[in-house]
Amino acid sequence: MRILSGIQPTGNLHLGNYLGAIRNWVRMQEEGECFFFLADLHAISQYQDPAELGRAIREMAAALIACGVDPTRATLFRQRDVPAHSELAWLLSGTARIGWLNRMTQFKDKTGKNREGASVALFTYPVLQAADVLLYQASHVPVGDDQKQHLELARDIAIKFNTDYNVELFTLPEPTIPAAAARIMSLRDGSAKMSKSDPSDMSRINLNDDPDLIAQKIRKAKTDAEPLPADPKDLDGRPEAKNLVTIYAALADEPVVDVLARFAGQGFGAFKPALAELMVETLRPIGGRLTELQRDPAELDRLLGVGAEKARAVAAPTLAGAYRAMGL
Ligand code: TYM
Repeated sequence: MRILSGIQPTGNLHLGNYLGAIRNWVRMQEEGECFFFLADLHAISQYQDPAELGRAIREMAAALIACGVDPTRATLFRQRDVPAHSELAWLLSGTARIGWLNRMTQFKDKTGKNREGASVALFTYPVLQAADVLLYQASHVPVGDDQKQHLELARDIAIKFNTDYNVELFTLPEPTIPAAAARIMSLRDGSAKMSKSDPSDMSRINLNDDPDLIAQKIRKAKTDAEPLPADPKDLDGRPEAKNLVTIYAALADEPVVDVLARFAGQGFGAFKPALAELMVETLRPIGGRLTELQRDPAELDRLLGVGAEKARAVAAPTLAGAYRAMGL
């Protein structure tokens, strides 16, 4: 198994990233050869303050290591340190179709009515993501549900490239999406996903929030007036309640039905403090390690440098194969 995934180093690592993706990254280190990277080239598809970006990249690297990504087992690197990502993305832009990109829901969600004012990079973003994955011949890509469509596109690009140039160059990647926490929703709106870009910090739990802030965010999380049901099906139509129960189940690593068995008939006055306590206990060690790692930025840079060197070596033959296939 060759496992690869990325995360944009913008904003803080939040609970959606952790439960939807990063926890699977950590677990999959036991199962195969892993490549994890900071998608800094994806981040600049929207303006980033240059004075902030370097700090944000190191901070995200520290957060991943604090969550359990082990740079001595997995190859952890910055995307921009491996120029083959940009090169392959350009080669694949000849294969990707505008019609395919037009169907990407993330582009539509991010641009809304301002499509004409969006950057070209935001539109071609999924082609760079396809290059990220195909460059390493990744077989498995642990992501949250929102990235599924981008990976389907990566497969379509791989199939068309292999067919057009009559080669067997690219491996078709499979997304690995957690059954339980594929889409963690905002604490303020059960119909929007928890996101770094939400202007309200109360909408998300950041992995470095202190216990008081976590308790406050859970206390203020939107809910409804009904008690919790015993049957998970009865959470349908109650998006905020469903989200909190999903988060509890994911943190406790238990099925939703078992969580409901404990809380059925009780209201959120009882459930929320229990959820806050579980969350604080689960995140506490991560926050502690994060503070430690942030003390030594030079060591983080060193680890990322070692990762980049390994990544460049693995990426090179695929890029060379793509040039060769195209007659360049
Ligand atoms: P990004 O940085 O938005 O998110 C990183 C990972 O976290 C998952 N995620 C969530 N999962 C569940 N609930 C949520 N509310 C939630 N929010 C985020 C995402 O699905 C993702 O797995 N384009 C990617 C980065 C990327 C990438 C790649 C991923 C670039 N190249 C190649 C895989 C393979 C992104 O912006 O993720």
